[in-house]
Amino acid sequence: MKPINVGLLGIGTVGGGTFTVLKRNAEEITRRAGRPICITVVADKNLELARKVTGGDARLTDDAFAVVSDPEIDIVVELIGGCGVARELVLQAIENGKHVVTANKALLAMHGNEIFVAAQKKGVMVAFEAAVAGGIPIIKALREGLTANRIEWLAGIINGTTNFILSEMRDKGLSFADALQDAQALGYAEADPTFDVEGVDAAHKATIMSAIAFGIPMQFDKAYVEGISKLDAVDIRYAEQLGYRIKLLGIARRREQGVELRVHPTLIPERRLIANVEGAMNAVLVQGDAVGATLYYGKGAGAEPTGSAVIADLVDVTRLHTSDPEHRVPHLAFQPNQVRDVPV
Ligand code: HSE
Repeated sequence: MKPINVGLLGIGTVGGGTFTVLKRNAEEITRRAGRPICITVVADKNLELARKVTGGDARLTDDAFAVVSDPEIDIVVELIGGCGVARELVLQAIENGKHVVTANKALLAMHGNEIFVAAQKKGVMVAFEAAVAGGIPIIKALREGLTANRIEWLAGIINGTTNFILSEMRDKGLSFADALQDAQALGYAEADPTFDVEGVDAAHKATIMSAIAFGIPMQFDKAYVEGISKLDAVDIRYAEQLGYRIKLLGIARRREQGVELRVHPTLIPERRLIANVEGAMNAVLVQGDAVGATLYYGKGAGAEPTGSAVIADLVDVTRLHTSDPEHRVPHLAFQPNQVRDVPV
């Protein structure tokens, strides 16, 4: 069986997790995908690290642009992050007819509209389960599981770093700075942790979820964004005395005028399930008109949980890539600009 050839850009935490899980569960994944998924080439600036992680199982290069134009590659996995070179690489990959799998929430929230239009023109998929809530299959849930519903609102703890910090401050009485340092050491935080603590990362993820849930373009620039950096241990203690937990929530709600999008610390009664989501865990509540409230819970960051989501996308793309074009599932290729059922 001819393998599907993957070019992996960036072998950091998530790249390493993807590589490890793909290797460990190769048999099951091949069966589910219908053919072997092979990471043929890995591009990273740190070749020594790449060599260590791949153990000689993939070709290595420090030239990511060569990968996106390599005729042997069917799918490009972009795990570089940020909106600079990653944007150029993704657009070039699409231009060259490659499917793209990305965990890059900033890129999608800021440039998703441009990227999806380009992908649509070329007839390739851009898949991004790993961009929101790590290992929780929330993109699939919104797009497929809840497809019969008119989504009314969604609200989630979608940044593990801030949830970890808030939990550590409450449970262990740690200072904000110490808790942040622990989160960084555990590999939860972004390269620039300001994105975590100021709510930007959560706003990127809420933007992506709202685009799918409400069929609107990415509208990150319209989000209200407030992080947790102004919170003190005393705020957390007072909230507790009153029977509340403070959580950083990303919220998207259907309103008559359009979709409201906001991220801010929120007081939640402690009897609620979502108030008890601790550490780096994530949880997303989605209210659909038919199904009512649904709750999705799991690890929102880390090597293998996020790798699990990357591989889920690789399997989806592989199934599509190998299937008879007449039986393709068009909604797997996300095209937000085609659907506008809510004025914005
Ligand atoms: N910095 C992110 C978080 C990583 O803490 O949730 C996963 O997107």
